[in-house]
Amino acid sequence: MKGTTEQLAVDGGTPVFAEPIGQNLAVRKVGAEEAESVAALIRGGISGDPIDAFCEAFTQAHGVRHGVAVDSGTAAVHVGVVAAGVDPGDEVILPAISDVGSVKGILAHNAIPIFADVDLHSYNIDPVDVESKISDRTKAIIAVHLYGQPAPMDELMDIGRRHNVPVIEDCAQAHFAEYKGRRVGTIGDIGVFSFITGKHMTTITGGMVMTNNDEYAKRAELFSIGRGEEEGKKEGMFFRTHVGLGLNYRMNPLGAAVGLVQLNKLGDIVARRRETGQMLDKLIHDIPGLSPPHIVDEAMHAYWLYAVRMDERAFTADTYAFARALQAEGVSCMPKDYYLLYDHPAFLDPAPPRNPEYAFPRAVYDDRERYFKGMCPNAERGLAAHIVITWSEFYTREDVLGVEKALRKVADAYRA
Ligand SMILES: Cc1ncc(COP(=O)(O)O)c(C=O)c1O
Repeated sequence: MKGTTEQLAVDGGTPVFAEPIGQNLAVRKVGAEEAESVAALIRGGISGDPIDAFCEAFTQAHGVRHGVAVDSGTAAVHVGVVAAGVDPGDEVILPAISDVGSVKGILAHNAIPIFADVDLHSYNIDPVDVESKISDRTKAIIAVHLYGQPAPMDELMDIGRRHNVPVIEDCAQAHFAEYKGRRVGTIGDIGVFSFITGKHMTTITGGMVMTNNDEYAKRAELFSIGRGEEEGKKEGMFFRTHVGLGLNYRMNPLGAAVGLVQLNKLGDIVARRRETGQMLDKLIHDIPGLSPPHIVDEAMHAYWLYAVRMDERAFTADTYAFARALQAEGVSCMPKDYYLLYDHPAFLDPAPPRNPEYAFPRAVYDDRERYFKGMCPNAERGLAAHIVITWSEFYTREDVLGVEKALRKVADAYRA
């Protein structure tokens, strides 16, 4: 099949894009309106008002009763875990593939992450494996809507209800994605979000915890913005009582001022990402050996990243060589095998350095056999066979056509 292919840019040929796409996206995301919102807050005197307004607007957009705005998605997961009632030593089931932000909150609470395997097509958590990993110590399940693709919430909620375990949706990559007509973050017992700059919308850094459950909301608030304190009076004067651990995870009001503007744009941003994402789905459908993201039944993908699946047998290149070639053509992309959450020294090193400053929970160190290479075979196989392309609402039709061209060019050059 080789011989007639165009010379790849990585080998000195002319790149598809003279100017690489997918650069400086975070910088382009916020502009004059956001700057004015922040300036108005500074001019008028800093207060927490934008935080309350942002919480209200975000929860209203989702039809959820309670929202707690925090300073990162990592904090949102931590607060979600605490709100769900997880205690140190309890187990929390989460997918083996995600950003490390999905697991840090579990570890911060001295709870034990239990990794479930994923579906080989969607890369999202596999409910059958979740159920097999439920134990009497399981106190929460975290569903991650990976790359913007909704996880199988019906099945997960069913498992959660039958075992009396709350389900937390990690929506950090899936703003306004929908599952069976419902926005993600509204289906589980708790929904958490990240608003770091690369996400669909941003508060520069920030996160949100949402729930309809009054008890979870109270705990979330006390643990994060409440700092574990109750306010009252002593001899007629203001007095604070520490009732438990609480970290000051409050969102920065300047970030909330940005978020209020961004939220107004979110519907258009997601629609635009979806439009161009679906356009590429159709364009690359017929490239032998490559597949567009598998869309789960009745789901609306929010296209945070665009995952391209490679049939390993169809190419002479692995995901690293393929991604390097695609990058040289001007397409921002990468393999994602660092998303295999357990495949890092902190979990797999038989004798990890016990640096007390960065200590994982004792239970994670003490049972090194709990985590091993091969424990989630679909996750390992899936990650070895896909790359993700940076996606953006700023991509034009021409950009998408260019991505298609680059994918065809690289696929042809590396065809086995
Ligand atoms: C799935 C997921 N969860 C949690 C986080 C943590 O969010 P943050 O970076 O805002 O701490 C991220 C961050 O990218 C993420 O992708």
